Amino acid sequence: MARVSVSQIKAMKQQGEKIAMLTAYDYSTAKIIDETGIPLILVGDSLGMVVLGYDSTIPVTIEEMLHHTKAVTRGAKRAIVIGDMPFMTYHVSVEQALTNAARFIQEGGAQAVKLEGGVTVADKVRRIVACGIPVMGHIGLTPQSINQLGGHKIQGKTPQAAAAMLEDAKALDEAGVFAIVLETVPAPLASLITHKVSVPTIGIGAGAGCDGQVQVVNDILGSFSDFVPKHAKQYARLADITLTAVSDYFNEVKSGTFPTEKQSFTMDESVLAELGN
Ligand code: KIV
Repeated sequence: MARVSVSQIKAMKQQGEKIAMLTAYDYSTAKIIDETGIPLILVGDSLGMVVLGYDSTIPVTIEEMLHHTKAVTRGAKRAIVIGDMPFMTYHVSVEQALTNAARFIQEGGAQAVKLEGGVTVADKVRRIVACGIPVMGHIGLTPQSINQLGGHKIQGKTPQAAAAMLEDAKALDEAGVFAIVLETVPAPLASLITHKVSVPTIGIGAGAGCDGQVQVVNDILGSFSDFVPKHAKQYARLADITLTAVSDYFNEVKSGTFPTEKQSFTMDESVLAELGN
C-alpha cells in the first residue's frame, strides 16, 4: 500500500477534493484511522492535554512527542504522519529547528512536521523544507502562545489582526509549506486566506470554506470529558461507553460472575493428580 505524498495533498486543493485530517497518539488508533483512508494523521501536541493531563500544550517535551510519534508511525502505513514540534523546540535558531525537525523524521518515523507561527518562523520553515522535510504551518489560535494570546480566543477579528494573519499565511506559502492549519478563525477570513494561498488550508474552528478539516480524535470520539470545544462534533460518546464497561467489569469481579469458564483455561487432570490433589 503506497504512502500518500505531499504532492497528492496539494493536488487535492486544485481538484476541489476536501481533505480530512485527525490527530492520533497511539498505535491502535492510528491503525484504525489509517484503515479509513484519511490521508493526514497529526501527532498533535494536544497530546499534552488529552493524553498526558497537562492543562496546556506548553509542558509537552520533544521526548514525549517522539515516544507517541513512534507508536503512531507503527500503526499508520498509508497516511502521512505529521509530528507536531512542541513549544520552544524550533524558536531559538534555524539550527535548533532543523535538528529537532530531523528527529521527528529519523527517530519518530514521521513523514512531515508541523510548527506554529507565520512570518516569525518562515526562515525556519524554508530551511527545513530545503533539507527535504515537508512542513505544515499553523496560524490563527496557536496554543503554544496561549499566555500571549490571553486564552482560547477567536483570532483575526480586527482589520489589523486579519491583515497580519493573511501576511502570515502568505509568508508560510512562500516558505514552502505543503498545507496550513487555520485554528479558531472567523469562517469568512479563513475562506479569504484559502483563496489567497496556493497550498491547502486545514481548518479547525475555521468554517467550511477551508480546503480540509482537522479534529482532535478524542473530541470526535467523545473520549475526552474535561470539555467539548465549540468546533468539535461528537460522533460517539466513548467516555460514557467506557464508564459503563468499566463499571460492569468492576461489578462482575466483585460479584464473582467474571471470569466464567469461557475466559478460563483447562489442564489435564492427571497433572493435578500428581500434585496430590
Ligand atoms: O495539537 C493539535 O492537536 C493541533 C491541532 C488542533 C491542529 O495542533
